Parts: sequence; C-alpha cells; structure tokens
Amino acid sequence: MNSVAVAEAPSKAIITGEHFVVHGSDALAAALGRKVRVEVRRAPELSVSSDRLRARNPAALLPVRRVVSALSREHGFKPRVHIEISSNIPNGAGMGSSASTMVAVAAALAKSQGIEPTTADLVRFAMEGEREIHGNPSGIDVNICAYGGVILYRMGERPRPVKLRSPRRIVIAYSGRQRSTRAMIDRVSETKRTHPRLFQGLADSIGELSLRAADRLASGDLQGLGRLLTLNHSVLSSVGASNEHLDGLVETMLSLGCLGAKLTGAGGGGSAIGVAPESEGKSIISALAARGFEAFEEQLPVEGVRSWQE
Ligand code: MEV
Repeated sequence: MNSVAVAEAPSKAIITGEHFVVHGSDALAAALGRKVRVEVRRAPELSVSSDRLRARNPAALLPVRRVVSALSREHGFKPRVHIEISSNIPNGAGMGSSASTMVAVAAALAKSQGIEPTTADLVRFAMEGEREIHGNPSGIDVNICAYGGVILYRMGERPRPVKLRSPRRIVIAYSGRQRSTRAMIDRVSETKRTHPRLFQGLADSIGELSLRAADRLASGDLQGLGRLLTLNHSVLSSVGASNEHLDGLVETMLSLGCLGAKLTGAGGGGSAIGVAPESEGKSIISALAARGFEAFEEQLPVEGVRSWQE
C-alpha cells in the first residue's frame, strides 16, 4: 500500500508586537489549537489540492510550489507527489493560516522523502512560500507555527521560548472580515515613511512592552498582561492597523469583562484577542457569540508542527 506522510501545524496569535516586529522590535506570539493538516502521497507528477486555497486557481497554489521547490532542490529529489491540504483555520483571520500551511507542507514533504530537517530548516523552507504571499514578512508567523508554545521573536534571530508556569487561557474573537496582510504591512510602513523618528520611538516602546507581556503571561499576572494588550491596541490603532470595526470589537471585549484586549496579526479585519478573569472566559465567549462574533477560548501552550507516516 502507498504510505502517506502527514503533518499538522498549529495556528497562531500574536500576543503583542505585530507590525513593529517587521521593523526590528521584539514581539510575543503563541501557537493555537486550530490546525492545518497536509498529506503527501506518491504520484506521477507534482499536484496540489486544498480545501481553502481556491485550488482551481493555480496562482493561489504558487506559494506551496515555492516551498516544494526549495526543499526538493536542496535535497536533490524530484517531487513526484500529490499534496493535499485541509484546514480549520479561517483565511484572513489573523490566525496564521498561510504560515501554518507552508510549515505543514514542508514537514510532510520532508517526511515523505525520509528527510529529518531541523525546525530552523522547516522555517527556512516555509518562508519561501510566505514571501510569495506577503512580500516581506518578519517570519514570526512561520516560527510560531513551527516551534509552537509561546515565543519572543526578533527578526533574523532564533525565537526565544517563553515558559509558562502553568497553562493560560486567551480569548479569540473573529471580526468576520478578511484582510490582506501584505496591504496592512504597507499601510503601517507608510506611517514610518511619513514620521520616521516618531515611528522608531513607538517601535522601541512596543519591543519593551512585549518583553513585559512575556513576563506577565509566564507568571500569570493577567491584570498586568491585560493592561499591556489594551495599550498595544491603541498604538496599533494610531499607526493605521485598526479600523472602526476592530476598535468596536476590542471595546466590546473590554465592556464584557476582559482585563485587556487588542487586535491580533495584521489588523484591518481579522481577529482580536483578550485576557479574561479565570472564571469568566466562557460567559464572555457566549456574550460575544450573542453579538454575532465567532469567539473561543484557547489554552496555552500548544505544540508546534508534527509529522508522521500513516
Ligand atoms: C502578521 O501575523 C504579523 C505582522 O507583524 C506581519 C509580520 O510580522 O510578518 C503584521
């Protein structure tokens, strides 16, 4: 029987520091439980199918092909395989669906060839696809989807794992609006072009904020973490990453009892995250659902990419 190589990679939330991380600041990210699953089986030639990436439009699958050619070129094999992608991460929701896909593709393809790459290698291959989609991303999304857990990340450096003293919960609420990460990176970078020194000051402060947020999350100081999240949201709003709809979602989360809330990821739509008092997560999620937002709670930490043969 033809064996199948399988990989699953988690989704992610940027806890603090998105956008500024593209300009060199530290940022904090966590892996989330929703996953992309990739199956690779032998085939006469390379083909890719996906339940999400508009598989009938070949251009939509180009990023996947970029990952495949990087890996096959480096390891000197012909990728005569069929790659099947399935996902329960909403596209454009700020939860890293593309990064998770690229990481899972790299891991499953490597497994299908009996190659055991390091996690840093998987990140490198996955970045080929991410660049095709987002232009010039920082790499935080693929790093968190590959390594899992909670990480502090600075562009060009190895991620630093953040060890939680006990599991923690965060609330995620999807605004229901998709957006393009590439367009949002361009929009925020425009603020940097217009006000370079002002932007640098904000970037330095947000880098510092991320280090403090990592401490608060690790130690379980939810009040302190919440305050930092809300502060980070207002700075993101001031550089053009938010809009009325997302600001409204953050306000709603705060009014329902979250200790802090902010947009997560590229903004402009996508999702918001919040910190709820220990016993109130469920009731906040029900109240968000009653207002029409898809919301759920995630327990951290979540493991990174895994691959196996079936
Ligand atoms: C997207 O999840 C995070 C951004 O900072 C882009 C990036 O870091 O590549 C907006």
